[in-house]
Formats: sequence, structure tokens, C-alpha cells
Amino acid sequence: MALSNNHRNKHRDNHSQDENPELDNIPHHVGIIMDGNGRWAQQRGKLRTFGHKSALDAVRSAVSTARKLGVESLTLFAFSSENWQRPIEEVNVLMQLFSFVLKSEVKKLHKNDIKLKVIGDVSAFDTKLRNKIVDAESLTENNKSLTLNVAANYGGRWDILQATKSVAGKVKSGELGLDEINEKVIDAHISTAGLPELDLLIRTGGDHRVSNFLLWQCAYAEFYFTDVLWPDFDEDVFTLAIKDFSNRQRRFGQTGAQIMSKDSHD
Ligand code: IPE
Ligand code: IPE
Ligand code: MG
Repeated sequence: MALSNNHRNKHRDNHSQDENPELDNIPHHVGIIMDGNGRWAQQRGKLRTFGHKSALDAVRSAVSTARKLGVESLTLFAFSSENWQRPIEEVNVLMQLFSFVLKSEVKKLHKNDIKLKVIGDVSAFDTKLRNKIVDAESLTENNKSLTLNVAANYGGRWDILQATKSVAGKVKSGELGLDEINEKVIDAHISTAGLPELDLLIRTGGDHRVSNFLLWQCAYAEFYFTDVLWPDFDEDVFTLAIKDFSNRQRRFGQTGAQIMSKDSHD
């Protein structure tokens, strides 16, 4: 059964209510398409790569705000399966940055009880980077305050494809019957398996598209678009998005009246 925000939040155990009494519907899972680094740099007469290097503070702010507000999972789109098509110099800077950040930020994430997961086709990365990912994930795997997914070499179609292949493999080996495949089975093989449903998808940078991000997971997400370019993203912008989300009525196919009457019976 689809649940309204109010209903779901009555069953939640987080500290958001104390810190932000005006925010009573905190999304369980937020995805962010961190867009606009290149334009931010170009507006300042700098190279696009300067924008990527300047994006780290915004990432830190998104992570700390998510944790503070009581978001359970945050999924950040860092590099898409299509981004390989950019000039090689830009791709190289992005890879170096990813490698640097994995090293420089992981201890802090661990100290803050944050679990890090990289989602995407990591087989495309070199061994050194892959080892860093494995080390960071295993160091933080038991942390509980927030799950931070970094989507790197990620594509929503890739995700659906890899889930399909895993499920097909199980059918082939006899572990799973064809009739047993349902949405829950696909969910359990998609890269965000085990995490709450995606409630809110934020995109900075002014474009109104999904760019092959969490396609399967977007089914009932609320979308929030802002013209703010990613390096300018901060706690205020994030809080505004969450406020906007918390004022929406999510109907999941039902009528507004049905949702209202369910909330009044809670
Ligand atoms: C987002 O910023 C970062 C990545 C895609 C890696 P962009 O680099 O896409 O910046 P714009 O959209 O060109 O301004
Ligand atoms: C989406 O941004 C990917 C990331 C933010 C990592 P893009 O800048 O690559 O998206 P398009 O090309 O404008 O659709
Ligand atoms: Mg872009």
C-alpha cells in the first residue's frame, strides 16, 4: 500500500524533528544530479575543470545537511556512463579528483558514521581506483547515520541491465523460477537494493532532465529543479528543496481526498 508522507514519518526514528521543527516530511532517500560545474567556472573566466575542483565544498555541504536533517540515503551523481565522451583532459581531471576525494574524505565520513557506497560500472576504472573504492566501502560498511551512494560511471539503463542479467543468471541456474520474477526481485538486484525508495530527486544547473540517472528508482520520486549551479549549492538550497518536498501531496495513483482521509485517520 502506498503511504502518505505524514503516515510514513510517524514511523520514523530520526532527529530531524528536534532540529527542524518546521520540516515534518523529511525524504528517506534523496538523489542529486550535481550539474553546472563547467558553466560556473566559465562564468568566472576559468577552465571547466576549475568548476569540478570547486565542487567539493558543495558535496561536503550536501552530505552534512542530509545527515543533519535525518535523510537516510543520499545518492550523488558524480560521473555518468555518457561523461566518457567529454574531452580526455576533462575526464582525466574528474578521475584524479575522484581518487583524491576517496582518500581525503573517507576518514571524515567514517568519523561521522556515514556508510559510503559507489554505484556504477566500476570495472571501467583502473585497479588502483577500484582498490580505493573497496577499502573505503569496507571501512564504512557498518556505519548507520547516513548511506552515501556515489554514482560513478553510472547509467540508469546500465543499472536495469545489470539487474536483469543477475536475475537471468539465477533463472538459468534454477535458483529462481521465471514466474517468481516480480518488481521486488528486480529491486533486490538494482544498485540501490536495500535502501529506501527514492523520494526526492534534485537537479542543479537549470536543466530539466534525468540524464540517465536512477531510472528504475525514479518511478514515484518528486522532482526539484533549481538554477543554482552545483558549486553554489549549500545548506540553504538543500533545505529549500526539502521544504518544497515536504509541502507536496504524494498521491501514488490515489485521489487527493483519499490521501487526506487516510492522514486524518492516522
Ligand atoms: C556536472 O557539471 C559535473 C559532471 C557531469 C561531472 P558539468 O560539468 O556538466 O557542468 P555544465 O553542465 O557543463 O555546466
Ligand atoms: C549529468 O550531467 C551527469 C552528472 C551530473 C554526473 P550532464 O551534464 O552530463 O548531463 P547532460 O549531458 O547535460 O544531460
Ligand atoms: Mg552538465
